[in-house]
Amino acid sequence: MKAIVYKKFGNTGVLELVEETIPTVKADQVLVKMKVFSINPMDWKIRKGEMKLMSGSKFPKHTGADFAGIVENIGSAVTGIQKGDEVFGVVRDMMKEGVSAEYVVVPALLIWKKPSNISFAQAAAIPVVGTAAVTALNKMGNIGSETSILINGATGGFGMFLLQLLKQKNATVTAVTNSKGMELATTWGADLVIDYAKENVITQNTSYDIVIDLSGKMGYKNARHIMKPKAIFLNPTPKPIDIPLSIFKNLFRTQKHVVVLSSPSTKHTAVLLTALKNGLQVEVNKVFPFADFQKAYQYAEQGGYIGKVLVEVN
Ligand SMILES: NC(=O)c1ccc[n+]([C@@H]2O[C@H](COP(=O)([O-])OP(=O)(O)OC[C@H]3O[C@@H](n4cnc5c(N)ncnc54)[C@H](OP(=O)(O)O)[C@@H]3O)[C@@H](O)[C@H]2O)c1
Repeated sequence: MKAIVYKKFGNTGVLELVEETIPTVKADQVLVKMKVFSINPMDWKIRKGEMKLMSGSKFPKHTGADFAGIVENIGSAVTGIQKGDEVFGVVRDMMKEGVSAEYVVVPALLIWKKPSNISFAQAAAIPVVGTAAVTALNKMGNIGSETSILINGATGGFGMFLLQLLKQKNATVTAVTNSKGMELATTWGADLVIDYAKENVITQNTSYDIVIDLSGKMGYKNARHIMKPKAIFLNPTPKPIDIPLSIFKNLFRTQKHVVVLSSPSTKHTAVLLTALKNGLQVEVNKVFPFADFQKAYQYAEQGGYIGKVLVEVN
């Protein structure tokens, strides 16, 4: 089978197409013939060596974590899934595994049947960022129309899910986005939409119960200026030191710093499948053909779009 791998850390130029043997399944695993895989910021953070502590430096590495495709083979202990099923799923350890190939083997616990009313591309866009949005939602506690929430980076992959999940809970949401995202953020129900290139949210006169920064550029110190006295700041892009540090510092402050670390599960996916039934939209910005994998990553890394970018394999 064809696979995209890299043999050293670096920019998109290190990605190359190679021939590999099709993997075989263990008892609890499923072999999926790849249709589409999704691109996430984590892919290039790992590829550039920014996550070395967790990814290790063993090469070659595949890239990509979530995907959709058709079941080709199942392990002897797998139930509820059959050859030919249309599924979407995710690898168990996105730091060490990748899906950028014509076939992928994953635990049966981490694939789910694709709803018939969404495309393979939409399904492949769900596991990583959809799950992260559900995790963030759970960290927010009880929310309702009286809860004011600012999402910084509201129309990227993560933001698109979070904004719509929050609006399904009637929260009051301010969406900070790029100019291209203004219209969709409004369609998805944002109460106020701010173009980050035109307005600095940190210096505005409004304060929020919850601030979540999906751009990785705001930071807790800046966010404090727009947080109510007992507000929380959700950080999905923590440095390793932030995890123990925030637990310690939160003991002495009323404005809390909360780290968001998600791992996809059937429980999270069930929330997303219900939200889809209730009208959640998955915006696919662009699907690149397999042969254009370098262009796909260059485009995704450059930003300036809304929703998700994916690579179509078959
Ligand atoms: N902790 C976890 O479990 C977890 C899980 C999934 C993702 N993440 C992380 O969460 C972050 C967001 O993920 P994603 O997939 O949504 O990424 P994404 O699709 O790239 O979205 C980020 C959004 O932030 C916007 N942005 C950039 N600069 C901004 C600024 N100054 N102010 C406001 N918005 C700005 C971007 O707009 P432009 O395109 O115009 O730059 C983009 O729409 C990533 O760092 C990712 O690694 C964490």
